[in-house]
Parts: sequence; C-alpha cells; structure tokens
Amino acid sequence: MIYLDNAATSHPKPENVYVALGAFLRQVGGNPGRGGHWAALEAEKTLAEVRLKLARLIGAPTTPERVVFTFNASDGLNMAIKGVLEDGDHVITSGLEHNSVMRPLARLQETRGIEVTVLPFDARGLVDPDDFRRAITPRTRLMILSHASNVIGTVQPIEEIGAIARENGLLFLVDAAQTMGVIPVDVKFSNIDLLAAAGHKGLMGPPGTGFLYVGERAELTPWREGGTGGNSLAELQPMEFPYWLESGTPNTVGIAALGAALEYLTSRGIEHIHQHEMRLLSRLAEGLCEIEGISIFGPTDPERGVGVLSFTLEGFDPQEIGIVLDDSFGVAVRPGLHCAPATHHRLGTLPLGTVRVSPGAFNTEADIDVLLEAVQGLGGG
Ligand SMILES: Cc1ncc(COP(=O)(O)O)c(C=O)c1O
Repeated sequence: MIYLDNAATSHPKPENVYVALGAFLRQVGGNPGRGGHWAALEAEKTLAEVRLKLARLIGAPTTPERVVFTFNASDGLNMAIKGVLEDGDHVITSGLEHNSVMRPLARLQETRGIEVTVLPFDARGLVDPDDFRRAITPRTRLMILSHASNVIGTVQPIEEIGAIARENGLLFLVDAAQTMGVIPVDVKFSNIDLLAAAGHKGLMGPPGTGFLYVGERAELTPWREGGTGGNSLAELQPMEFPYWLESGTPNTVGIAALGAALEYLTSRGIEHIHQHEMRLLSRLAEGLCEIEGISIFGPTDPERGVGVLSFTLEGFDPQEIGIVLDDSFGVAVRPGLHCAPATHHRLGTLPLGTVRVSPGAFNTEADIDVLLEAVQGLGGG
C-alpha cells in the first residue's frame, strides 16, 4: 500500500514506536499512581518524561503538569471549549475549523446560549487577523483557530492573532492537529493560552494519544472526573494539574510510544520532515496541474503550508477516485468531506468534497508518481 493519508493519522510509525509499544506492555504494564510498586512507579515516570518532552516541544512557560494527556485532538478541544465557555459568552473562530471545534460550539450555542462568529478566509486560504480584532464584542471570551487547515494545508498567522487576543484580555485556543510535529509552535511567543494536538498525526505516536496545554490564564472546569490515583478521600476532583483534567487509567502504553516518536522527531528534525513533505507536495501539484479538468486546493506558499492538498477532477465523484486509487493502484487517500463543512462551503466543493492527499515523513517521490499516473489515466491528461 502507498499510504498518502497522513493528515488522518500518520502511517507507518518510526520503528522505535513499535518497539516501545511492545516493551511497555511486556516489561512495565503498571497503572500510574495506582500503587507504590515498581510497575506503577515506572508507568508514572514514563508519563512524566513524555509530559516534559511535550512541554519543551511547545515552549511551555509553565510546569510540565499543565500539559494534560488526552486521547486525541478532539478530546483536548472539547475539554478546552466546554471547560472555558460560560452562558452567553461570545467566541470568534474561522471557516477553516474542523468539526471537533464546530460541533462542541454548536452544542454550546444550543445549550448555553453562546454566540459564535465564524470569519472567512481568502483565496490563499488565510484568515485576516484584523477580522478577529473587528469581531470582538464586550462578551467575547475566546478566539479559536486551527494552526493549519486539514483540507487545504494553509498555516495561519497565529502569532498575530495571539497578540490581538492578549491585548484584548481574551483567551486564545489553537488547534494544532495538523502542525504539531511539522511546524514549530511556541505557546509563549504566540500568546497561546490553550493548545490541543493529536499524538497520532505529525508527532507519529500511536492512536489514542494527544494533549492539551493549559496556560496559567485559562481556567477550565473538567468535563471528565474520577479516579486520579491519589487524594482518594477528596469528594471533588483534585484541583492540581494534571489531575484536574486527567481522570481514569491513561493510555500509558500509547504515551510511552509517543515518547519514542518524539525521540525520532528530534533526531530527524521537524524542519527536515516539513521540507520533505512540502517537496513531495510540490511534485504532486506540478503533476496535477498538467491533467485536464483538475482543480487544486492547497497551500500556494510552502512557507505557509503543511503537507495537505485537495483536488477535484471534473466529471468524477471524489469517492470514485478514492476507490479506484485504492482498488487498482493500492494508493490510500481520503475522498469526500474532511470533517470541515464550512471550508468546503467556501471552496465550493459541497456536497461531494475533494480528494485529499497528505504525504508523510516516510513517503517518496515514487509514491507521488504512482498517484499521478493513476489520476492521469482517469483524466486523460
Ligand atoms: C484540524 C483538525 N482538528 C482536529 C482534528 C481531530 O483530531 P483527532 O482525530 O485526533 O481527534 C483533526 C483530525 O483530522 C484535524 O485535522
């Protein structure tokens, strides 16, 4: 299989991730905080080490405990959105957001009377920071922006929007699902109060991993409460981080493997991986341009993009293309709507969506060429 769906989840993983999964399950296997025996303590140590690595990766100016493990990016986004917003609050966001932002907001519109302003993006796929400034009202509490679109890969000017949020006393939540592991993020520099990311995409950890960074300015109520290992007599959830937001048995084995993935990332270099993916994307875009009937939706500037490109082919349903690529060429892409209906609305790709191609760290030029040849066969270019 030629796997070109790394925006959904990265595959394959670095070899040391597979080794770490097996090693943790076979040799450690304890439940952190649940018991004073070696296995529980070792599991606790593993969590602390990976937490510290993540805190360093994002330049967290706080103690690492404010990096809270989640089960994916959606989990962290729900935790942030539902934990921060109160009745009648106003939120500013963009038309590039994933359903894991838009659906929690829609729920709160219904149940808590919050108001949501959804800002447009331009032909290059970028939001205008001044639009965020202009949309602020006395009731605004939170600005939310995806660092990069999962449909067209454009990287947003989060530093500028973070500065606007901070100047106006607002909280800034960044969805880094598509950038963590390929674009450096510095929460202090970009004035980010809340940052949600998946561990299983660009960070190259296993499914079931993710994290939410919670800065000192953000006060969150937990949306999941329960056992934390310690403080068992307390009736209410212990208020100290990370226990305030982490309850129940964590995905310790996944987190151990995420730690291995972070080591791989450091040794190969985030910048190097990003350049590799953007080179593959340029090759893809150049090849697609030559095919009659193709429309491309992707980053126009490699400096402001991640390895995600969408295309449509006149006369073909993206689903059909996906099936042919899979069945006849062994190429895995994602056809249809990519959990971001507002983005497709603006691109004019409703209701069928696009074919999304997202190369990863282990793809080669030969992989792109197989895809191009297959699409050329369909388009007759
Ligand atoms: C921009 C964006 N946000 C959030 C998510 C949700 O990520 P997860 O599947 O880890 O919950 C995705 C997944 O594709 C995404 O692309």
